[in-house]
Amino acid sequence: AALRDVDAPAPERHRVPDRHAAVPPSAPGAFTNTPDTDPAVREHRAWVRDVLARVPGSTLGAAGADAARVDDAGVLDALVRDARRAGEAWGARPAAERAAVLDRAADALEAHRGALLEVMAAEAGKTVDQGDPEVSEAVDFAHWYAELARGLDRVDGATFVPAALTLVTPPWNFPVAIPAGSTLAALAAGSAVLLKPAGPAERCGAVLAEALWDAGVPRDVLRLVQVDEDALGRALVAHPAVDRVVLTGAYETAELFRSFRPDLPLLAETSGKNAIVVTPSADLDLAVRDVVASAFGHAGQKCSAASLVVLVGSVATSRRFRSQLLDAVSSLAVGLPQDARTQVGPLIEPAAGKLLTGLTTLEPGQAWALAPRRLDDAGRLWSPGVVTGVARGSRTHRTEYFGPVLGVMTAATLDEAIDLVNDVDYGLTSGLHSLDPAEIGTWLARVQAGNLYVNRGTTGAIVRRQPFGGWKRSAVGPGTKAGGPSYLAGLGSWASAPAAA
Ligand code: ALA
Repeated sequence: AALRDVDAPAPERHRVPDRHAAVPPSAPGAFTNTPDTDPAVREHRAWVRDVLARVPGSTLGAAGADAARVDDAGVLDALVRDARRAGEAWGARPAAERAAVLDRAADALEAHRGALLEVMAAEAGKTVDQGDPEVSEAVDFAHWYAELARGLDRVDGATFVPAALTLVTPPWNFPVAIPAGSTLAALAAGSAVLLKPAGPAERCGAVLAEALWDAGVPRDVLRLVQVDEDALGRALVAHPAVDRVVLTGAYETAELFRSFRPDLPLLAETSGKNAIVVTPSADLDLAVRDVVASAFGHAGQKCSAASLVVLVGSVATSRRFRSQLLDAVSSLAVGLPQDARTQVGPLIEPAAGKLLTGLTTLEPGQAWALAPRRLDDAGRLWSPGVVTGVARGSRTHRTEYFGPVLGVMTAATLDEAIDLVNDVDYGLTSGLHSLDPAEIGTWLARVQAGNLYVNRGTTGAIVRRQPFGGWKRSAVGPGTKAGGPSYLAGLGSWASAPAAA
């Protein structure tokens, strides 16, 4: 398909006014990350108010109907085979040509910023401060993977052979950035994509796909598909014409996918149980700010969230950190994303299972420093909870609740704190607040997680600067990191070029 001209402006209501006025040009070789909407700029605030006014409250969490629903095994089989053929043609194009489409995709995603914020709020309950960086990250992914694709054409002595067809199965909690990243990486590598959006965030997937089609991604190369997660879902994952499956979701889902097809080439970013350690040398004000944002942003529904804080030595025994933390947490405004004041939005669905247990039940020795309160009839709005007395090996120590509850643990020494942090099945993100270089060195050397953050929160990895991915049960597959230098390598293979005659 011919590349389409995307110079025509997107509807003004989707564009943030004067976004790039303050961004200096990149230094040669530098990568410029896209700025978020800036609440300090009056025009941006007005634009956000307009976006929020368009979020229809009635559709909150309602599944949309934009993805092509397939409910017939024969139709699914034909669709997969067609997509694979389109992928073979796409992969045969020069990588530089695919990269040019991705650069246009970046512009198209920027042009759709307002529409994406609207649909993230409506479907996934995302506040603008949480959704806006997702759009920026998606734009960054497009530029970054375009850059990597250009590199694929420049490798001497080996040829990159892309996967012909990649199935992308993203989660609902980052319903734009994660499907965008996985899809753009596969397209950059030279693969066709079947994008199966998460059920609760179908319309986010649809708006994302529209943006990419607008940018010139051929419609047969990127297809949006929805299947029930039953026999047909299984047939899709296990289909022999699918070369790669990129999954972001629970570790159990990765195991389930593997049970469908033992030789499944899976790139999975899975669960986390992440902690921030605070030592007596820390800037405690900064630590409070980062713990609160990491634990309760998007109501704690992030694989990267900090659901534990480990207080070391005098931070544990003195009142200062705890009282500041509790003041900060109890000051958070809980509400719907349509309200610009909201800091903690709704859960994607009423609390149930392990999350409901975590929000309502104490274990022996535990006490609520702040007991979570249910604020609506449905059980989707909860005031954030803080539980103290969390013991090593307890449910709260080891279970990913995926919601607004933070466990407080204590340790006499940094070494003991690191032992607690490592004594979980997962290893995705980890945080340290310390101003002591020796402590920082010890922690960096010993802690078991993919993304280590010093004096920063544990969420919101920045494309290229902070490649994202985990260890242990937080990753399944080659372990290449999203937004990093080697991510495309997992979406194809290298063949030696024939020796020159
Ligand atoms: N990449 C997302 C984050 O860093 C999950 O929070």
